Amino acid sequence: MNSLKILEESSLTEERLLPVAINITDDERRMIREAADYLEKKYGSFENREFVTQVHQLASYFLPDRLLKKLADFSSDFSKDQYGALIFKGLFDIDQEKIGNTPANWQSADYSKFNAYGFACALLHGGLPSKPVQYYSQRKGGGLIHAIIPDDKMRETQTGSGSATDLYVHTEDAFLKHQADFLSFMYVRNEEQVPSTLYSIRSHESIREDFRPLFDPIFKIPKDANLQNEEEETETLDAVLYGNQKLPFMRFDAAEQLFNPSIQQTDLAHHALNKFWQEAKHLIYSDFTPQAGDVILVNNHLCAHGRSAFRAGVKNVNGVELNCEKRIMLRMMSKVSLMDMRAHTLTEDPFFVIEEHLGKNFKNFQ
Ligand SMILES: [Fe+2]
Repeated sequence: MNSLKILEESSLTEERLLPVAINITDDERRMIREAADYLEKKYGSFENREFVTQVHQLASYFLPDRLLKKLADFSSDFSKDQYGALIFKGLFDIDQEKIGNTPANWQSADYSKFNAYGFACALLHGGLPSKPVQYYSQRKGGGLIHAIIPDDKMRETQTGSGSATDLYVHTEDAFLKHQADFLSFMYVRNEEQVPSTLYSIRSHESIREDFRPLFDPIFKIPKDANLQNEEEETETLDAVLYGNQKLPFMRFDAAEQLFNPSIQQTDLAHHALNKFWQEAKHLIYSDFTPQAGDVILVNNHLCAHGRSAFRAGVKNVNGVELNCEKRIMLRMMSKVSLMDMRAHTLTEDPFFVIEEHLGKNFKNFQ
């Protein structure tokens, strides 16, 4: 891991590109809070379809101008200077008492407690503009926000519920053709002070000649650890890099594509991936430790995410280990276009994605 300082307000003074942090002012935070309160009164839930359908117009109306401009730039800038992650520091005041004790797992979370945060996150996606959607491949849909909570029974897994091992950097749902375009991670609680890890394809100085095979559809892209393999995995292959040849996008999951023991890449594919990883692993950024109320917004085609191993429910105060409430993070995913993925959404709900693996839908929806 390198030790780089986070950039404040895009002051690109260092040679290497880093995520941009935006300090939310008191006035901006108040505007967002008031917007969430108003929208909650008007629409009830952030899942309300009328709200989600109008989220772009509502974002333009309610979000501070400075943030709207940053969101618009972020969504259409794929340049060499675009890291692919924006950090909004102090976007929302979190009422820790109202949240109460952290539940044992995501299945037992009370989502009504997160309703105002759902509105705030949806407005960020709306301002890009991008539309909040849900994926059957993640928690069978489960709504537009997923609570990511360490679960003791899942400690060792490469999932959001894990904690005891490093969660390798990955773009979300790398095994889908229509993976989310943007992700937001709102930190409700992080008393353990777990740093987040980010890795941008733009952190490579250049796309070298020996990375060229990564543009070819020769790679096995296995489904992730959340999904049980009930049947034999089909041998669908895809590329790791795509889009522009000089400034590409990526679908990359180190744990699944390189280190999954049940997946045998061909020698050519393995060699190319390994070369890529040998450079990429030194470009991982892990100097930002999110605090309650911070939001990280990620372009899922440019920037991968992960997290270091940690002990859930244990904080360190001046060298003394004390029990604390376990971490809670809220993830929202969005797509810029509902039309492009229409073959992979429910007939009656274009916001519900039913793709299972690289262009193939779940059988129960075919
Ligand atoms: Fe993830």
